[in-house]
Amino acid sequence: MSQKKDPKDTCVLVTGGAGFIGSHTVVELLQDGYQVVIVDDLSNASEKVVDRIDQIVGEEAAQNLTFYKADVNDREAMEAIFDQNDIDRVIHFAGFKAVGESVSKPIEYYSNNLGNTLTLVDVMRNHGCKDIIFSSSATVYGAPDSLPLTEESPKKPATNPYGWTKWMIEQILTDLHTADPEWNVVLLRYFNPIGAHPSGLMGEDPKGIPNNLLPYVAQVAIGKRECVHVFGNDYNTPDGTGVRDYIHVCDLGTGHAAALKWMNGRTGVEIFNLGTGKGTSVLQIIEAFGKACGKKIPYQIDPRRPGDVDANYADCSKAKREMGWEAKYTIDDMCRDSWNWQSKNPNGFED
Ligand code: WQD
Repeated sequence: MSQKKDPKDTCVLVTGGAGFIGSHTVVELLQDGYQVVIVDDLSNASEKVVDRIDQIVGEEAAQNLTFYKADVNDREAMEAIFDQNDIDRVIHFAGFKAVGESVSKPIEYYSNNLGNTLTLVDVMRNHGCKDIIFSSSATVYGAPDSLPLTEESPKKPATNPYGWTKWMIEQILTDLHTADPEWNVVLLRYFNPIGAHPSGLMGEDPKGIPNNLLPYVAQVAIGKRECVHVFGNDYNTPDGTGVRDYIHVCDLGTGHAAALKWMNGRTGVEIFNLGTGKGTSVLQIIEAFGKACGKKIPYQIDPRRPGDVDANYADCSKAKREMGWEAKYTIDDMCRDSWNWQSKNPNGFED
């Protein structure tokens, strides 16, 4: 159970903190005055991100950041990190996250995502730390029976190992609290994170061919890809293309900061949807990005991608009611910031 503490007296361990959502969350926490420890094995992130975080938050706040290159599944490394830092809370992002890849690599996805979680919570327990925020996903709702999705909407069987790992880790953390009511668990179900830090110093930097829509569109805009492949235009949506609830990655950062404040001094298991409550189609995204970059984005209609749902978007009134949090960026903001990042960093952090 967490003792009520001020941010300046609170140390937060952020696993996967050099990643897309993790790094933007770390910026918010440092700016709120927290002490932050990042653990990241850099399997899907660049160490340059740590320098970019320092640049964004400034010298004084950067002194509250410690970085460890380590695998969360490395028990010895994690025990040492907890010995060296008086960790009060954990935000757990670390995990493989490519839906398509997970179908061809189930062993790697289950052993990494579930294995690192089980090691993490066991080491937390050994050190009397029982406060965790988990980076979950709207993917646990599967194909919605009705929209918008609330936290009470039923979880559905996943359609891929990535989705199953999110589903199962939610269950693992819930069972932890059932066994020991001192556990304090917050499950944050993100919808579709896009955008980049307005400074243009950080953003999404997928390896290889982007699985997700926004980074693919951005790479077409800088001429790295020929055209956007729209996966189906015969869905039950206004323009026939898939509808999703896109949320700015900086709004996700403030969502985590709000959850840290909310969970202060509590125990239990609580779920929050982090979205905007608005659905946007693939063609609307392509149009908005064209406006942001001042170019027409070429696209072609391709067959549907297996496993895609017609539409999903959030009812995020609970986060507003309970945590006083709501998303503030618009689709145009998300495209503007994504274009700013991509045009300044055509090769991501490699430059
Ligand atoms: C969005 C829409 C596609 C690519 C997944 C995970 C979720 C989260 C985000 C990790 C859909 C269409 C896409 C393309 C397209 N996970 N699309 N052409 O599938 O909603 O969510 O990624 O961070 O947990 O489930 O996101 O961006 O892949 O697709 O037409 O080249 O864009 O069909 O309608 P998705 P997405």
